[in-house]
Amino acid sequence: MPTIPTARTPDPRAAPALRWGVLGTGWIAEKFAIALQRNTTQQVYAVGSRSRVGAQAFAARVGAPTAYGSYEALVSDPRVDVVYVATPHNYHHAHGLLAIAAGKPVLIEKPIAVSAQQAGELAAAATAAGVLCMEAFWTLFLPKYDVLGQLVGDLGVDTVLADMGECFPPEHRIFDARLAGGPLFDMGTYPLSLALWALGDPASISAYGAPTDQGGYGEINGALSIAMQATGGGLASLYTSIVAATPTTATLAGPGHTIVIDGPFYQPGGFTVTTPDGARVRYDEEPVAHEGGLHFQAAAVARHVAAGELGSAIRPMSDAVRLLRVMDEVRRQVGIALPL
Ligand SMILES: NC(=O)c1ccc[n+]([C@@H]2O[C@H](COP(=O)([O-])OP(=O)(O)OC[C@H]3O[C@@H](n4cnc5c(N)ncnc54)[C@H](OP(=O)(O)O)[C@@H]3O)[C@@H](O)[C@H]2O)c1
Repeated sequence: MPTIPTARTPDPRAAPALRWGVLGTGWIAEKFAIALQRNTTQQVYAVGSRSRVGAQAFAARVGAPTAYGSYEALVSDPRVDVVYVATPHNYHHAHGLLAIAAGKPVLIEKPIAVSAQQAGELAAAATAAGVLCMEAFWTLFLPKYDVLGQLVGDLGVDTVLADMGECFPPEHRIFDARLAGGPLFDMGTYPLSLALWALGDPASISAYGAPTDQGGYGEINGALSIAMQATGGGLASLYTSIVAATPTTATLAGPGHTIVIDGPFYQPGGFTVTTPDGARVRYDEEPVAHEGGLHFQAAAVARHVAAGELGSAIRPMSDAVRLLRVMDEVRRQVGIALPL
């Protein structure tokens, strides 16, 4: 019977306290600010919005002392130690470059850009400027994923099944083609990144898309089904949807062993390991969602920035670029156009 390893994740409260500048004032920005305040000693010091009123309202909601009515003003504040970019996917590239040009380390929401070329440009600009640039792929920074990583290494995994399906109201930006809507960038990041993390580099993929007429700002897909074979031979079967609610579970299987991660698999929560003789071992933790999980990546950034390091071995820029190479290929096969 396998024993469940212990998470080696450092205490997020012990990370050096930095002054964060939050760029964008939407849904995830607020969850991020709350997660930092509840679970770390990081300071949500400033916020930047396209509008002064929006910045002031957000700052009041999260208790940030400084509010700027432009992103340029935020990144120019010498007291901002690190910038967190929380704008729609197709603005990550421009807003990441804005922070880097101001000499700020930057944590950019997932996916870090909308093409591998853009992600490569962010990586190159950050390297040239000597600042950290990291994709906010919070899942891999969770203690649960440190435990899973140890199990994947010990048990050997050659099969990944994962889905992420959620229904959104028609007015949500996810249906807006002008903001790179559809399931690929928002939700597809999770099953695709899980498959790449567990199986390694892709050798081939096949993608199928189902269009939806919800939205109204141009054609987008409602659901995607993606099959992937890794160079090591492993296979993944992945699904993502914005028009169907699916269990959002994941299965990692290897010779005789199976790990079934409770849904939503990308958040804190439990999983079950089943051994070849049918024995089951459980890992359990409180399924606390974003406000109880987004801070682990921020604490990692704070440790790296304080140590003068330009990236994280948990989510190196090369992995963010690799994900977008796969997404480029999915877009090519399915015919998903990027906004102009
Ligand atoms: N890690 C996660 O679990 C998670 C969850 C949800 C979303 N995300 C990612 O976070 C990013 C933002 O998602 P969200 O759900 O927070 O979006 P959202 O609620 O729509 O917020 C996006 C913010 O970006 C700013 N923005 C700049 N240009 C914009 C434009 N042309 N149209 C609309 N907003 C614009 C706005 O802030 P101002 O008006 O203040 O400038 C807006 O509030 C996405 O890339 C998404 O993939 C990650």
